[in-house]
Amino acid sequence: MSPDIRAVANAETVHDAVEAGSPLDVSGLTVAYDRAPALWNVDYVAPKGGLVAIIGPNGAGKSTFLKGALGLTPKISGRVAAFGAPVADARRRIAYVPQRESVDWEFPATALDVAAMGLYRSIGWLRPVRKKHREAALAALAELGMADFADRQIGQLSGGQQQRVFLARALVQDADLYLMDEPFAGVDAATERTIVSLLRRIASAGKTAIVVHHDLQTVTEYFDHALMINVRRIAAGPMADVMTAENLQKTYGGRLAAPQLAAAIG
Ligand SMILES: Nc1ncnc2c1ncn2[C@@H]1O[C@H](COP(=O)(O)OP(=O)(O)OP(=O)(O)O)[C@@H](O)[C@H]1O
Ligand SMILES: [Mg+2]
Repeated sequence: MSPDIRAVANAETVHDAVEAGSPLDVSGLTVAYDRAPALWNVDYVAPKGGLVAIIGPNGAGKSTFLKGALGLTPKISGRVAAFGAPVADARRRIAYVPQRESVDWEFPATALDVAAMGLYRSIGWLRPVRKKHREAALAALAELGMADFADRQIGQLSGGQQQRVFLARALVQDADLYLMDEPFAGVDAATERTIVSLLRRIASAGKTAIVVHHDLQTVTEYFDHALMINVRRIAAGPMADVMTAENLQKTYGGRLAAPQLAAAIG
């Protein structure tokens, strides 16, 4: 199992906190793997409810930000709270869809097993998956058009199908905060629409999703807030406020061509 999946699946069970604080409140987060920091002193307070896109070039630290927020990377400094509590106490309320490349697809699990992992906090780790849990996991797979693949090993699914299985796992978890790392990468138009409707459902339930998104053509259509990162935080806020040519050029180090800029800022 990949460290990402294991860390999320092993997360401790806690009580539902009284609603307080931002879904995610990160301050002064600095992460370095080797020497040079991948993320430098990043502050971010997520809005209560809504869809946030994390934008930045390859290697900017987007995945590191999500992993760092979840406590999956050793951090040099910083404080992370979720719903007014230390993030470790709020894990049960957070669903995480890792970037596809970071998952160990050789791990012997079926699509149904992976979807059911979203329920481990209610089932109990290492307890048998009961009928009602199987049914919930199957329903989530069906919703993502993956019911026919329930018994297939995850390594034997196509990339887009793997992505759908991970979304089913997040769906079944019924979280209050969703962290998704490039869910749209390598999916077809139908899957893209499925993901968009899933995101809209999250937002209309008053929940928050923070999603790494690379496509500047669709970012303003799908999301209402943005966090722009390039090792440091470049800008954050409502889409209309932060989607400026200046912020985009700073984020991409001046490497954006005019058509990409035009697509992003309309
Ligand atoms: N496990 C690791 N060990 C060492 N360096 C790492 C590790 N993970 C990431 N890095 C480095 O940290 C930096 C940020 O990586 P990260 O994966 O957060 O970028 P990203 O913004 O998600 O990029 P992408 O768009 O390619 O997914 C990069 O320079 C990367 O090479
Ligand atoms: Mg990444």
